[in-house]
Amino acid sequence: MGDARLWQQARPVGTFATRELLALIADMQETMLDLNGAGLAAPQVGVGLRVVVFGFEHTPRYPEAGGVPYTVLINPVLTPLSEEIEEGWEGCLSVPGLRGVVPRWRHLRYTGFDPLGKPIDRSVEGFHARVVQHECDHLDGILYPARIRDMTKFGFVDELPGSAGAD
Ligand code: NI
Repeated sequence: MGDARLWQQARPVGTFATRELLALIADMQETMLDLNGAGLAAPQVGVGLRVVVFGFEHTPRYPEAGGVPYTVLINPVLTPLSEEIEEGWEGCLSVPGLRGVVPRWRHLRYTGFDPLGKPIDRSVEGFHARVVQHECDHLDGILYPARIRDMTKFGFVDELPGSAGAD
């Protein structure tokens, strides 16, 4: 946080399955796995393209979350499927050591493309929906602290007993 690239609007990917795109995705997946992240967006590795990766079977960062399928999502479009908002803890690899409670749509449809240009269309809820919203916010230059409504629920992981998980 503080790097100007994290505040910028990312550009859509125009051509799929290029060597550069596949190399970017491989780099992002490796970074996400190395850091035990639930997801990662291209601007977090300094690339202003609308590409996110996410997914895990189990993550020590969010021990109570159910699994989310490993996904590469390009040029995503998000649509809330109900008015229901859910508050939940989030952290971010670009904001290390901190956690905060963030409101997100509980039910979400997301569409986009995989690295080869094949369409993706899913309706999800709960933590899966939360991860997608967090990652896609990065593509619009939004970091989760900007969405926190109750600043008493924002702080260092070690000081927040309810936030669960190590960063
Ligand atoms: Ni993040």
